[in-house]
Amino acid sequence: MTITVIGSGRVGASVALNCGLRELDSKIALLDIVSGLPQGEAMDINHQLSAQGIDSLAYGSNNYEDMKDSDFVVLVAGVGRKPGMSRMDLLKTNGTIVKDVASKISTYAKESTVIVVTNPLDVMTYLTLKTTQINKSKVLGMGGMLDLSRFKSFIQASANVSRDSIQAMVIGEHGENMLPLVRFSSIGGIPLQDFISEEIGAKIFEETRKVAAEVIALKGATVYAPGNAVATMIEAIVKNKRQVIPVSTMLDGEYEISGICIGVPAIIGRNGVEKIIELELNELESEIFRKGVISVREATKEIVL
Ligand code: 2OP
Repeated sequence: MTITVIGSGRVGASVALNCGLRELDSKIALLDIVSGLPQGEAMDINHQLSAQGIDSLAYGSNNYEDMKDSDFVVLVAGVGRKPGMSRMDLLKTNGTIVKDVASKISTYAKESTVIVVTNPLDVMTYLTLKTTQINKSKVLGMGGMLDLSRFKSFIQASANVSRDSIQAMVIGEHGENMLPLVRFSSIGGIPLQDFISEEIGAKIFEETRKVAAEVIALKGATVYAPGNAVATMIEAIVKNKRQVIPVSTMLDGEYEISGICIGVPAIIGRNGVEKIIELELNELESEIFRKGVISVREATKEIVL
């Protein structure tokens, strides 16, 4: 099984390391246009995997052809948010990069499952899907899974229970209008609302939406949680887990929306997105979800296919 990670900056390296740590018996190719960087990252990652007795093997390359016949391609290429920037501020710059990389994926790895990480996530997922022409079930955007990891950490801090007991959901735009769903979250199967007050629910809702910007202001980038989120999605597919996680995927009438990619809960298994799950959103949730849809739709209209 081969995983190619395109873009070997801090997030790409974290994706490669996290995939290695999952022990999926994989070859992990790190690709980058910067000479030396993917090779150095691969060496460092191999040294850790070696110490842990894990046989997955990372290698670095500056040649797109090396993604040939990959089972998975993780698209991380592009620039990250700088402090103070929104994800949408990256639209033009990353649109050009993603289109170029996606056309390479279409040339060399048309049979692969593609996980998109580059921001603005939902729009870049759409652009990748349209450029590669790969089946929509096999082009997934990693946004909700990351937002979920943050939401869970705030739930843990408020309810003071093990992280392991928490089930939660975050859908919508991976951006200003993300929608952490207090109503669809639970602790040990018991509704979250039995553990926290409405005020705390509203507080952690806001914190979840803003915390990535805080991390970026403090350390320049988010790195470990995105790497883990991608590895979780790949593992769900490789092991055909039929795991229910939020992913950005092309909607075709679900939630009465078509023609854009946005975060929704889905069953993830061997074929990628096996089924999109439609939640009954209440008025407030629907309003936020719709705002995200409008934001993503407007931005999607701006990209050149
Ligand atoms: C994140 O949420 C920056 O979108 C990236 O960490």
